[in-house]
This record gives sequence, C-alpha cells and structure tokens, in this order.
Amino acid sequence: MLKEQMDKKLEDLKGKASVKILAIESSCDETSVAVVENGRKVLSCVISTQIPIHKRFGGVVPEVASRNHILAVDNVCKQALEEASLTFDDIDAIAVTYGAGLLGALLVGVNYAKGLAYALNKPLLAINHIKGHIASNYISHEKLAPPFTCLLISGGHTAILNVKSYTEFECVGSTVDDAVGEAFDKVARIMGLEYPGGVNIDRLAKQGTANINFAHKNILAGTYNFSFSGIKTAVINYVHNKQQKGEEINIADISASFQTFVVNELSCKTLKAMKDLGSTKLVVAGGVSANSFLKAELTQKCEELGYELFMSELRFCTDNAAMIGSVAYYELLNGLKCADFSLTAKSTLPLNE
Ligand code: KG4
Ligand code: ZN
Repeated sequence: MLKEQMDKKLEDLKGKASVKILAIESSCDETSVAVVENGRKVLSCVISTQIPIHKRFGGVVPEVASRNHILAVDNVCKQALEEASLTFDDIDAIAVTYGAGLLGALLVGVNYAKGLAYALNKPLLAINHIKGHIASNYISHEKLAPPFTCLLISGGHTAILNVKSYTEFECVGSTVDDAVGEAFDKVARIMGLEYPGGVNIDRLAKQGTANINFAHKNILAGTYNFSFSGIKTAVINYVHNKQQKGEEINIADISASFQTFVVNELSCKTLKAMKDLGSTKLVVAGGVSANSFLKAELTQKCEELGYELFMSELRFCTDNAAMIGSVAYYELLNGLKCADFSLTAKSTLPLNE
C-alpha cells in the first residue's frame, strides 16, 4: 500500500473509540512486545529478559543481545497476542522503538516490525525509547497528564525534563558524562556484584551505613546538570586502594555511601529545578526509579513541599514495550506520520525526534 494510504489509515484511527497498538521494544537486553489500548490500558506486555545471559559477562554484550532478540521476538509477539486474547486482525497499528539504544539490538525490533507492517498492511510508527520511559507513568497513573517535570534516570540517560505536553519536551539539565544507571552498574561491578548492579547496591545499602566520604570534585554543583564519573572513579580508587593494602572492604557501607550521594544529587537538583520552573508535579521514569532509597527520599521531600509525585509500577520502570505502545498512541493523535520501509535504527536520538 502506498505511504499516503497508510497515513490516511493513521488519520482515520484518530476518530476511533478504541485504538489497539502492538508495540515492540528491543533497544537493550529485553525483548518485549505489548498490546496497548488508547495509550493507557495494557492488554498484554510480555518481557523476555536476557539478564541471566549477560550476567556472566558483567554487562550487556551487544552482539549477544542482537542474536538473542532474533531468537525471542517471534515467540514473544505470539505470546503478547495470546495474553491479550487478540489476533493480528484486531491490531490497528504497529509501533517500534527505533532509537536510542544498541544498534544491532534495535535493528531486530525495527526489521521485525517492518515485516509485520508489510505483511499485515498496517501502519508503522517509529518511537523514541526515551519518550517511552516518560509514558510508562501514563500506564501506572490513569489521571496523570502533562505538564510536569520528569526526572529521567536509566542505564543510558539522566535528565531533568520539562514535559510540556504528551509530545513536547524541553531538557532542563542532563548528565555530562555517565548515566546514573551506568554508574550504579560500574560501581557494583568493581565490588564483585552481579549485573545489573543497581538493584544489588539498593539491596546491600539497606544493611550498611553511609559513613564513607569519597574524595572527588563535585564539578557541577549549583547547576541542573549531573556528573557521575567523578564519584564512580572515587569509589573505584577507594576499592583498589583497600585491596592493594590487603584490607577488607565493607560493600554494604560503600553501597550506602555511594547511593546516598547519588540520590542526594538527583533529588536536590530536581527539586531546585522544579522550584525555578514553578512546577509542583514530579514524574520519575527509567530503570533507576526502581531504587527504594530514591523513592523514600522523593516521597518525603515532595510531601514536605506539597508536590505531587508519580513513579511507575516496578515492572514498567525498566525496559518494556507497553510504554512504547502508550507513547505511540499520543504521537499518533499529535499527527505522527507513518514510517516507511526505509526506517532504520538509530543508536542516538535527540529527545524531540
Ligand atoms: O531503563 P532501563 O531498564 O534501561 C535503559 O534504558 O537504560 O534501566 C536500567 C538501569 C540499570 O543500570 C540498572 O542497574 C538500573 O536501571 N536499576 C537500578 C535499580 N533497578 C534497576 N538502579 C538503582 N536501584 C535499583 N533498584
Ligand atoms: Zn530504557
């Protein structure tokens, strides 16, 4: 079918009472397919994680990830339809993450989605992964609507965003080096903890005391931008130093001290930005929003300040296709055009694309 005819199909969907989107996500180490109705109702969301495969390498190996996406995607898709008690005939459009992420991994989802769209003669929507993380909160909170401030914290991104509408975002601050999840994972690795390290640091920190002051220069104090490579290197040096001297390291105290610093940075800068923006609604998105200490800290601070706080359910914090199906619906309403078969994956993608 011609692209114009596909765009007309998409246009017609705007007036439909029920729009069911089949979404595909494969940007990192989760192969996920979901069916989402009208951007909010998750009819199914199947996530096949490769974490056990990558654990033995201490992190995601891109080529291994791509190969495992290929093995999983078809079955995950079938399962998503089964769990929703639907067939392909019931699906109105196909959505897929086309960036940002690991190129080879993204290509698997993009090509699978192109194949489906072509074979089924359905419109194809190309979706930005980061917008998906923000939208995960629309699934968890029925009444949540923009405008709000979003603290986006994942393995690949760290940013404070001014979310003006479902499809319009402004970056207020971001990391100048490591993403916060990346710093969690690297610090965990140096202590011998399994990948993905964030959740292990979170668990261990509960048994420790934040009594170590890691010597480093906090270069961005007073701005909305973040830097996590200084603290990460300080922890690595601390651990190496102790090991060279043959001294024991207390991984619970290191975890608590590192996490306290990071959470304090995230929370103080976000709340300062909100004050300056005149915003009273905070949405936290991305894998690191699963951190229990951050959740407790922000809950307390927002309560004191009279701010509303939204965090997505644990299963929608990390990578999943339901969030892609959610944002695809709002992009469609906002006039996103159908992607054509020249669509390709992008390892980096500006937020507004
Ligand atoms: O959003 P996500 O699933 O993937 C990306 O798009 O990057 O985030 C994964 C990141 C990993 O770095 C992982 O260690 C971190 O989220 N993470 C956590 C916790 N759970 C996951 N970090 C800190 N505390 C947690 N409880
Ligand atoms: Zn992600």
